[in-house]
Amino acid sequence: MSGLILGIETSCDDTSVALVDRTGHVAAIRTVSQFEIHEAFGGVYPELASRAHLEAILPTVEGVMAEASVTPSDLTAIGVTRGPGLIGSLLVGLATAEALSMGWNVPAYGVNHLRGHIRSVELESGRTEFPAVIMLVSGGHTLIAELKDAWSYRLLGTTRDDSVGESYDKVARMLSLGMPGGPAIDRAAKLGTPVLRLPRPMKNEGYEFSFSGLKSSVARHIEQHPEVSIEDMSASFVAACVDVLTAKADRALDECKPRSLVIVGGVAASPQIRDAMTEVANKYGVELCLPPMKWATDNAAMIAMATWDYVERGLQPDLMPKPNLSLET
Ligand code: KG4
Ligand code: ZN
Repeated sequence: MSGLILGIETSCDDTSVALVDRTGHVAAIRTVSQFEIHEAFGGVYPELASRAHLEAILPTVEGVMAEASVTPSDLTAIGVTRGPGLIGSLLVGLATAEALSMGWNVPAYGVNHLRGHIRSVELESGRTEFPAVIMLVSGGHTLIAELKDAWSYRLLGTTRDDSVGESYDKVARMLSLGMPGGPAIDRAAKLGTPVLRLPRPMKNEGYEFSFSGLKSSVARHIEQHPEVSIEDMSASFVAACVDVLTAKADRALDECKPRSLVIVGGVAASPQIRDAMTEVANKYGVELCLPPMKWATDNAAMIAMATWDYVERGLQPDLMPKPNLSLET
């Protein structure tokens, strides 16, 4: 076997390692979740995250290499997330990649986690047709961009405050739905009716997003209308998010006239958002590219997939951590 990239993802609270070939075939992947470590804190505790990555990383690398019967000579490169993310967590992945690179004599590339999400749609299934409009909706990011090809993009808009995923998680906490918030809200929303008319921040203004006002409005309604059920509250919140996201996607499809609409990031796992985006794409006769559920949230396969772009462009490997890396850099 030859021509594999070893991907390493440790930007937040999952230690993930994968082997992916040029076509997007995932030869092996292992992801160690830290969910139980952080659950009690109601969010990721950075110091504990980096310690847990440190414990898990080498056995996870050894695990995927053994599972796929791969030796270092089968590797074209190593790709590791260098940002955005938690500095301590990023450093564990980067130091590991650097050490493996030297020991195995395989080049290691620092990869933008956001580019990983963008390339997640290429894993094992559909292919993006360019030009494309991409919407990244995750816990850390909310952005919409026009992609001319796999590498060049024009940023259309991003969030002014909270990300969509963050607002799902915060609303889930307000409703005592536990972590992770997204899937819990989805499940509750399916059983409810959107009876509350919540605000749709910036729905009709360009491509910028703002979700903190929506979150505060949910908090006020919980206080003022204790009679509204958790299911109806969740359904109302999801309806507002879906409305804003589809309005931006609709505008981008109308203005950019792309060949595909790509929706990536953890929130792309939401069935309500998937259904609504299917309708928008159908309206314009555009191909909808959604990563299968398992590739929508953070994973190393998408990082390995994105690494192929760095290798093929002959980019200089850069293993400096960049906690605030944006899509522009
Ligand atoms: O992409 P991701 O795994 O990590 C970041 O890079 O941020 O996204 C995590 C976010 C969390 O806020 C989580 O609540 C949300 O994705 N999420 C969902 C669903 N699954 C995960 N949101 C809505 N519906 C889901 N099914
Ligand atoms: Zn992510």
